[in-house]
Amino acid sequence: MKRKIIVAVTGASGSIYAKLLLDKLNSLSNQIEKVGVVMSKNAKDVWKWELENEEYNNYTFDFYEKSNFMAPFASGSAKYDTMIIIPCSMGTLGRIANGFSDDLITRSADVILKERRKLILVARDTPLNLIHINNMKAVTEAGGIVCPAVPSYYSKPQTIEDLASTVVDRVIDLAGFQSNSYRWSE
Ligand SMILES: Cc1cc2nc3c(=O)[nH]c(=O)nc-3n(C[C@H](O)[C@H](O)[C@H](O)COP(=O)(O)O)c2cc1C
Repeated sequence: MKRKIIVAVTGASGSIYAKLLLDKLNSLSNQIEKVGVVMSKNAKDVWKWELENEEYNNYTFDFYEKSNFMAPFASGSAKYDTMIIIPCSMGTLGRIANGFSDDLITRSADVILKERRKLILVARDTPLNLIHINNMKAVTEAGGIVCPAVPSYYSKPQTIEDLASTVVDRVIDLAGFQSNSYRWSE
């Protein structure tokens, strides 16, 4: 069965993770029926600052405004199976952990959790305070997956994109896609 995926991009540092994920989903189109994308205002500001472009406008996925509760995945009946928030700010994490559903990102995460589907939060900040840690605990207890934006080095990445891909490849695996990525000892 082809997949229906929600990608939310929020205003944490690490727009490169969002870019690489969207590129990867483009390349996996044979496994995907729909990709719905929501970006917060800060996500766009951080993307422009860090990547020095507005290339999020170039993707052909279905983009929705954060204020648009009429988007299909604002309801569980639309049967989107997985939501990836990448990068996920501590603010968005906190709103999800505490059940706020006051915009399309937090509402969609709430829906995914209540439907017992897959929610992946690529959380990014450092250091963490106890509020962040407790919010991660709450989301984990509710069935979400906190996958911090922590790159690995054992594949010997040579470029910033290679390094960021070590995070995105884990997200792709967690989301259940078939993909050829670096596998330790293979
Ligand atoms: C350049 C820049 C980098 C930021 N990096 C982070 C970050 O790594 N983690 C975080 O939680 N917030 C970060 N923020 C702050 C968030 O953008 C801010 O808390 C915002 O309210 C998050 O809103 P959103 O979750 O709706 O995008 C950053 C802001 C800017 C301008």
